[in-house]
Amino acid sequence: MRGAFAGRQGMGSVSAEDRMLVDLPFDPARLDRIVAGVPAPDGYRVLSFTGPCPDDLAAEWARMRTQMNEDVPRGELTRTASVVDVDRIRLSDEQMAQQGWTKVRSVALTEAGDGAGYTEMFVSAHDPDFVLQDDTLVGREHRGRGLGALLKAANLEQLGALGGPVEGRRWLQTHTEQGNVPMQHTNERFGFRRVDVLHECEGPV
Ligand SMILES: CC(C)(COP(=O)(O)OP(=O)(O)OC[C@H]1O[C@@H](n2cnc3c(N)ncnc32)[C@H](O)[C@@H]1OP(=O)(O)O)[C@@H](O)C(=O)NCCC(=O)NCCS
Repeated sequence: MRGAFAGRQGMGSVSAEDRMLVDLPFDPARLDRIVAGVPAPDGYRVLSFTGPCPDDLAAEWARMRTQMNEDVPRGELTRTASVVDVDRIRLSDEQMAQQGWTKVRSVALTEAGDGAGYTEMFVSAHDPDFVLQDDTLVGREHRGRGLGALLKAANLEQLGALGGPVEGRRWLQTHTEQGNVPMQHTNERFGFRRVDVLHECEGPV
């Protein structure tokens, strides 16, 4: 029975995330349709890059990472959202590069240069099959314009053009809380299919 061990310890599921996959290489016809269906809203530009966060974006990236920690739905999970600063961004970039990860990233900026959203995928030199879709955030005041889909499409275009590090990878994998309606809609648009569910459990100590 699913969750039986946790149940015997007095724990119950407080968060359910769908693990979802889409095949790689990503269907170019589907990507074209997505791009055509999500015209870039006025007042924003999207930049894509791989590897460490450039210096001129680091402060905004840290601010958005902190926002992500606050905003990402995690069901009823007890947590304290941590603040991410530039040093932590740098350390994470450095450590993950040492471990063989290539970060594939896109950011949406306003005309004033403020971060409106970002998305990132992680490609491991040691995993021949999976590319991981990590965070996607659109800042609260910028939501409702399809920027999440726009960022993901830009990042997939970048992933497709990477060649070497991505060659042979079979799936892009993401985890999305079942109640996260905007991201579930966005995933659907990209053709992600649910393959299983990750439950996080809590109980009294
Ligand atoms: C998820 C997120 C990036 C989406 O932002 P966005 O791109 O501005 O999303 P939109 O408001 O354009 O909505 C995306 C889709 O969800 C739909 N949607 C949004 N809210 C909805 C609601 N309450 N009910 C039904 N549909 C809704 C939109 O109509 C749109 O549908 P479409 O793709 O069919 O056009 C943003 O909500 C966010 O940053 N959330 C916090 C962080 C997070 O949860 N990240 C994802 C972790 S997996």
